[in-house]
Amino acid sequence: MARQTETNHKAVETLLLFLCSAHGFPTGVCRSPLGMSGGQILDEDISASSQWSDSTAAKYGRLDCEEGDGAWCPEITGEPENMKEFLQIDLRSLHFITLVGTQGRHAGGMGNEFAQTYKIKYSRDGSRWISWRSRQRKQVIEGNRNAYDIELKDLEPPIVARFVRFMPVMDHSMNVCMRVELYGCEWLDGLVSYNVPLGQQMILYGQNIYLNDSVYDGAMSYRSVVSVWLGQLTDGMCGLDDFTLSHVYNVWPGYDYVGWTNESFPSGYVEIMFEFDRTRNFTTMKVHCNNMFSRRVKVFQKVVCYFRSESDWEPTPVSFSPVMDDVNPSARFVTVAFHNHMASAIKCQYHFSDIWMMFSEITFQSGELGNDHHYQTEVQLWAGNCRIDYFVTVITEVSAKDDSNTRILIGCLVAIIFILVAIIVIILWRQVWQKMLEKVRALLSSELCSSSILIILIPIAALTAAKSPQASAQEGVPHYAEADIVNLQGVTGGNTYAVPALTMDLLSGKDVAVEEFPRKLLTFKEKLGEGQFGEVHLCEAEDMEDFMDEDFSFDISDKQTVLVAVKMLRADANKNARNDFLKEIKIMSRLKDPNIIRLLGVCMSSDPLCMITEYMENGDLNQFLSRHEPEGMIALLSNAPTVSYSNLQHMATQIASGMKYLSSLKFVHRDLATRNCLVGKNYTIKIADFGMSRNLYSGDYYRIQGRAVLPIRWMSWESILLGKFTTASDVWAFGVTLWETLTFCKEQPYSQLSDEQVIENTGEFFRDQRRQIYLPQPALCPDPIYKLMLSCWHRNAKERPSFQEIHRILLESRP
Ligand SMILES: *[C@@H]1O[C@H](CO)[C@@H](O)[C@H](O)[C@H]1NC(C)=O
Ligand SMILES: *[C@@H]1O[C@H](CO)[C@@H](O)[C@H](O)[C@H]1NC(C)=O
Ligand SMILES: *[C@@H]1O[C@H](CO)[C@@H](O)[C@H](O)[C@H]1NC(C)=O
Ligand SMILES: *[C@@H]1O[C@H](CO)[C@@H](O)[C@H](O)[C@H]1NC(C)=O
Repeated sequence: MARQTETNHKAVETLLLFLCSAHGFPTGVCRSPLGMSGGQILDEDISASSQWSDSTAAKYGRLDCEEGDGAWCPEITGEPENMKEFLQIDLRSLHFITLVGTQGRHAGGMGNEFAQTYKIKYSRDGSRWISWRSRQRKQVIEGNRNAYDIELKDLEPPIVARFVRFMPVMDHSMNVCMRVELYGCEWLDGLVSYNVPLGQQMILYGQNIYLNDSVYDGAMSYRSVVSVWLGQLTDGMCGLDDFTLSHVYNVWPGYDYVGWTNESFPSGYVEIMFEFDRTRNFTTMKVHCNNMFSRRVKVFQKVVCYFRSESDWEPTPVSFSPVMDDVNPSARFVTVAFHNHMASAIKCQYHFSDIWMMFSEITFQSGELGNDHHYQTEVQLWAGNCRIDYFVTVITEVSAKDDSNTRILIGCLVAIIFILVAIIVIILWRQVWQKMLEKVRALLSSELCSSSILIILIPIAALTAAKSPQASAQEGVPHYAEADIVNLQGVTGGNTYAVPALTMDLLSGKDVAVEEFPRKLLTFKEKLGEGQFGEVHLCEAEDMEDFMDEDFSFDISDKQTVLVAVKMLRADANKNARNDFLKEIKIMSRLKDPNIIRLLGVCMSSDPLCMITEYMENGDLNQFLSRHEPEGMIALLSNAPTVSYSNLQHMATQIASGMKYLSSLKFVHRDLATRNCLVGKNYTIKIADFGMSRNLYSGDYYRIQGRAVLPIRWMSWESILLGKFTTASDVWAFGVTLWETLTFCKEQPYSQLSDEQVIENTGEFFRDQRRQIYLPQPALCPDPIYKLMLSCWHRNAKERPSFQEIHRILLESRP
């Protein structure tokens, strides 16, 4: 039983993380559980080909539920190979399904049946069934390896269906039982099928580029017109700017697109007919087109659309000519306004403007159920990878167009919802997160299994808090959120090291191991930074040696005074801030490493409380390098001070060494960057943490309203999307720090990307479809070191090197 709870708990966490990730980024908006575990799908809508006994009937096939005998199990038959057993779910309306989850029968340790592989069939009308196939045309899906873990599988391509069947692949060796869940959202496009001329083949420098519809589900081809139920043009996947590179799923080039050449169309246009589930009030059509004019591919020159509402085609079409663009070769969406035409079918003629025309997505927006529904339809557009591109447009459309009162009304409603949700998320993250998790766990092991409501709520909240422009203007939010980490927000606004809860307990058991320093011996020199609860001052301290251990040697030993940084807590700071300050002192007092800034003393006898840390004469590494040039002609001509490559590497090695020490204590820094490394005499480096409190570097931090101030350009994808901070994410930041060092901090990382684009790029790391952008190899950077950098940015955190390895590699590659 203990095992069961543990695995449940693990599964929930995976799910939470998973959904959080999905919702942290618009990509995954359409990934909510559709109600097997949550109970929204009723027992009567779950059926099966057969059942082993009443207690393993179809209705017990709900993911993460333990009712009955713990799962659905089909009858054991003599001829298992024919795959006739299935568990069927009726969703009552069309849904866009992006993900499926399966689990075996565990029944508190009594069961050990699961499906190692299975297939999926689906149907929109309940009579015509289509076998799902992956983009590589494989039907069989890898299932479970044990009876308790949940396996989640992305459906690539996703499906649009009302009925879904899970069909376990059975063999003689074992009995099979399943619990399942579907994830996705309602399909509001209303598009049921389209007819499109067969896509063609382009031969480019001897390479075949297949521009046919390769994800169709159930095509019937006659006279070169494919009648496609739904396919490539509706799979939510946009093609790349350069169609010759469409290797997204390791498939052939041109895969994402359906394309035609004008030679096969003497009429000069391609006609596509779209059928919808019912008569709808159409506002727009959006067509994602390639525009790589250098290869003679262009956006259509004109489109003429006819509408059929009852049985007749309306005589007057809508036509639209986009502005031709011979400058920007990016693929783009072209939006065609339909001016509230009512129709159940639409026929559009897209006219060639060059030899080739290529589309990857076509979507329709309709609003027949009033504005409320209209908004939902737009939300639908977020589904699938491609549809993210609308995300910004949708929001701005809703809030910017104030030409009608209803628009404003929706805007306000949406704003209110966002604000409420943002407040919820703050509350959740601040206080209830832990409790929530426990509740979810408790609920899951109880028979109600209705926890999915919570599971949905949290990520949605996360999404809206992260993305909504109207989110609450709450300040003073926690810097980062993670359940198992004691979150220390530096009083100056700089976050201090995050410490695992366990280490924290050990630390707090002891007394502060630093001495009280007489305040009068400090002389103010300048303000280094400022945060919410305090300030950091640069001071000179007299007679500091008298207060220090023997093992400590100062950077400046020949003078009476030393430079120190003094972090001060404002007298009016609240109790929490005070406690954090004390914790920070405790932690700092135990960090003793030549490459980590040391705590020298404290002033605790009177307000304001101070902690005195080392400071180094050359300031921080970012400013230091900005003042210097690489050795070479430019430096010679401009007479600028230089730093040799070997000294750069010496500094990087020290950063790695300091981080090696921190990671050995399981401390996570969370804000490693050149701005947080101080430079002393002879290129010595010590890692500090006041970057965030300094105005100078405010541009390096991205303020997500209601969430955090984040150094996104240094953060790993999992830190941004999942809020996960680990040593491996510090390794990622080290890679960026190394890049900064070798570029002399002359520009910000990804300086050509806006903050939003950086976050989008993070999504690309998450999706891993080779569209992510890496920082380029700095001119000074030898190949092996660039390889090291790239390995720090490995998508899989486990494959990134440890600081020990990084340190060793840097030491060994010294010039
Ligand atoms: C599209 O082209 C590929 C590559 O030739 C082929 O494997 C696939 O069957 C084609 N699909 C259709 C629907 O013709
Ligand atoms: C279609 O929607 C628009 C705005 O939403 C509305 O003004 C119009 O009356 C609707 N047309 C029909 C026929 O319902
Ligand atoms: C195809 O388009 C090109 C460029 O617009 C044009 O020169 C050519 O004549 C067209 N071919 C046909 C068969 O219409
Ligand atoms: C500076 O560092 C180099 C190598 O790290 C060392 O050889 C040299 O003695 C140091 N110089 C001083 C003045 O500490």
